[in-house]
Amino acid sequence: MSHHQDRIIFFDTTLRDGEQSPGATLNVEEKLTIARQLAKLGVDVIEAGFPYASPGDFEAVHKIAATVGTETGPIICGLARATFQDIEACAKAVKAAAKPRIHTFIATSDIHLEYKLRKNRNEVIAIAEEMVSYAKTFVDDVEFSPEDAGRSEPKFLYEVLEKAIAAGAKTINIPDTVGYLTPSEFGDLIRGIKENVRNIDSAIISVHGHNDLGLAVANFLEAVKNGARQLECTINGIGERAGNAALEELVMALHVRRQYFNPFFGRPADSEEPLTNIDTKQIYKTSRLVSNLTGMLVQPNKAIVGANAFAHESGIHQDGVLKHKLTYEIMDAQLIGLTDNQIVLGKHSGRHAFQTRLKELGYELLDTELNNAFLKFKTFADKKKEITDWDLESIVNDEIQQPPEMFRLELVQVSCGDRARPTATVTLRTPAGEELTDAAIGTGPVDAVYRAINRVVNVPNELIEFSVQSVTAGIDALGEVTIRLRHNGQVYSGRAANTDIIVASAHAYVNALNRLYVALNAPKTTPAATAS
Ligand code: KIV
Ligand code: ZN
Repeated sequence: MSHHQDRIIFFDTTLRDGEQSPGATLNVEEKLTIARQLAKLGVDVIEAGFPYASPGDFEAVHKIAATVGTETGPIICGLARATFQDIEACAKAVKAAAKPRIHTFIATSDIHLEYKLRKNRNEVIAIAEEMVSYAKTFVDDVEFSPEDAGRSEPKFLYEVLEKAIAAGAKTINIPDTVGYLTPSEFGDLIRGIKENVRNIDSAIISVHGHNDLGLAVANFLEAVKNGARQLECTINGIGERAGNAALEELVMALHVRRQYFNPFFGRPADSEEPLTNIDTKQIYKTSRLVSNLTGMLVQPNKAIVGANAFAHESGIHQDGVLKHKLTYEIMDAQLIGLTDNQIVLGKHSGRHAFQTRLKELGYELLDTELNNAFLKFKTFADKKKEITDWDLESIVNDEIQQPPEMFRLELVQVSCGDRARPTATVTLRTPAGEELTDAAIGTGPVDAVYRAINRVVNVPNELIEFSVQSVTAGIDALGEVTIRLRHNGQVYSGRAANTDIIVASAHAYVNALNRLYVALNAPKTTPAATAS
C-alpha cells in the first residue's frame, strides 16, 4: 500500500477539464502562470492538458513539465485516450517532468460502448489492458479512468479495473462523467470497488466528478469516507458544463471538519495533522488568478472564494461576530489568504512600502512590472485616498496578467449624458507602431468606445459578456471590468481596473482584442479530440 494512502492527494485538472469550460481558453503563457501558482498552492498532481488535442495543448503540457515539474514540484500529468497516438503524444509532452504521469481513459458504460465507441465489453477490456501496458513503456506512473463509471455496470467495471491494475495502473480514477450520482450512491460505488476488485490494494482510488446536479463535492466527500484517496478537482469548480468539484471547497471541508474525517484515515478524531498538502493561504490568490485569466467570474455567494463568503450583512450576524467570531463563522478568512482588508497605503507611500506590502501579499514582481505597477498606484492614490490590499492586488494583476501588447490604448475620451448622443474618441497604437484615431457614436458611452476601438482594430468579434465589479466599497472605488468576446466560436477574455469605469472598459476590451489578435496570428491548430 502506498504511503499516500494516509492523506488526500489533490489532483488539479483546472488546466485540462477546467480549460474545457465554454470560453475558458488560456494561452500557453497563462497556463504556465496558473501551473506555477498551483505548485505554490501545493497540489500533488497537475493535469496540464490533453497533448494530442492540439499543438497548443501539447506545447503547454511540455512547458509545464519542463519548468514546474521539478523534483520537489508536483507530478505533471497529461490526458490521453486509449490509443497509440494519444499515448505517444502524451508521453512526449510529460517527459521533461521529474515525475511524469500518463492518464489514459476509455468509456465503460453501455450507452458509451454502444453509441460512442461501437465496441463490445471484451473489446474495451482488451484495449484498456493493452493501452495501460503501452503507457507503462514510457512512464511508471500510469492512471486509468473508465469514463462514465458512474453509469457503468459494476461487475464489468470491477473486471476492467482489475485488468488495468494488473497491467500496471497505479491510480484508478472513477469518473461520474455526467454528474448523475448522489452521495450515497457514489460512496457505495467506491466501497464496491474496494470490496470486489481483487488487486485494489496495489492502486490508489481516485474520483472525478461533474457538478450537473450540484453534488460533486458532496459525492467526493462520501467517496473519501469509503476509501478514495485522490480527488480530481478544479479551482473555482470550473469545467465542462456545470463544472468539476471545486478544490477550495474540498480542501476547506477536510480542514474545517477534520475531526469528522480523521477516523476514516485511521487517525484519532482530534489529530491536528493536516489531511492534505495544500497551503490554504494560497487559495484566494489562486482563485483570483484563475478567474482573471479565464474571464470566468466567481459568483458572489460561491462557497469559500465568493465575494460574500465572509461578509455579514444582517445586523444580528454583525453583532454576533463582533462579540465572538465563532457565533456565525466556521472558519477564519485569513485561512484562505484573505487579509483583514485594512487600509495600507496612500499617496505619500513610497516605492519601498509599496514593494514591501506586495511581498507580504505574496507577489514577486520583475523590475519593469514593479515600475509600471508603482506608477499606476501613484495615479490611483491621487484620485483615491485609501489604497487597500484589494486595490493593490487589482493593480498588480493588471500588470502581471496582461496578454502581449499588440494594440495599445493611448487615449479614450467620451461625451455622454441624457441630452447627448454618447460619442467616443480613441487613439490606439497599432502593432506596426502607427497611431490611429477614430470616433463613434453608440447607445451608451461603453458602446461608443467599443465601436470606436473596432473601427481601428478591424477584427470582427461579438461581445458576449461585459461585467463591472467594484474592488472595494465607496464612491472612489476601483472598478474592475471583465469582458469576453467571441470570434469564430472561440472566446477571448480581457480584464482591467481603473477608478474610471469607462477607461477600465476600454482597456479590458483592448486586452481581449490583443488575445484575439495573437491567436489569429499564431500557427493554426485544429483540435483533434475532446474529453470531459
Ligand atoms: O469526466 C470525465 O469522465 C473525464 C475523464 C477524461 C476522466 O474528464
Ligand atoms: Zn471530466
